[in-house]
Amino acid sequence: MLPGTRRLYARRVEPVLVKDYLGLLADAPGGASRVLDVGCGPGDLLAALARRWPEVRFDGVDADPGQVRLARARHGGAARFRHARGRRMPFDDGVFDLALATESLHHWRRPVRTLEEVHRVLRPGGRLVALEGRGDETWADVRRRLGTPFPLVPFMPLVYRRRGYGEEAIEQHVRPCFAGSPFGGCTVAPCGRWWRIEALRGTAPVPPRGPRDAPGPLEGRS
Ligand SMILES: C[S@@+](CC[C@H](N)C(=O)[O-])C[C@H]1O[C@@H](n2cnc3c(N)ncnc32)[C@H](O)[C@@H]1O
Repeated sequence: MLPGTRRLYARRVEPVLVKDYLGLLADAPGGASRVLDVGCGPGDLLAALARRWPEVRFDGVDADPGQVRLARARHGGAARFRHARGRRMPFDDGVFDLALATESLHHWRRPVRTLEEVHRVLRPGGRLVALEGRGDETWADVRRRLGTPFPLVPFMPLVYRRRGYGEEAIEQHVRPCFAGSPFGGCTVAPCGRWWRIEALRGTAPVPPRGPRDAPGPLEGRS
């Protein structure tokens, strides 16, 4: 992120997003005892989930050490936040019941490898739920939704390469990445301006490594 924008984003954008996320994840953690957020950013989602489900243990990882510092400062009591990329996480096999990734998937530079790692840390029967924007909003829509004046909006097209996935990107890239990962596939459901992408970690033995990650719309900067 641009210098100085993390806190502003956390204060002004994150609360709007988390309101959406909580609606879309109303069934989470659904009996889970450990939940992971991959690309947790400033940690607001886990903090909100921890308020609802105090008995659940929450962990967040983020590739950006600045986000991890911010998450710890804002919500250190709610979850354990660690600096790690999704493709190599400091957790034992099979420890999580549920993994979340909100507006994170599209940043993953090696999506198949990262899915493989998420699959590893989930228990058999555990699931990954990813939320991604559908990319059909204009920047004017974004400005309206966030409220004005919001000083970051004019810079957003420069900061963010994408606002989400169109149908074509879902079919041509998201589904093949999941199909080429140990998850073996995913379900994708439109929910308002979001996609809810869900994959189940089966109970069968993990197949050998899938095809190499192909560059495409999933590819990001981290
Ligand atoms: C658009 S922000 C979303 C943050 C938060 N999940 C939310 O919904 O507001 C994307 C976050 O994913 C993190 N990220 C990107 N690639 C990652 C990766 N490979 N592993 C872990 N975190 C990653 C970024 O550092 C950033 O904090």
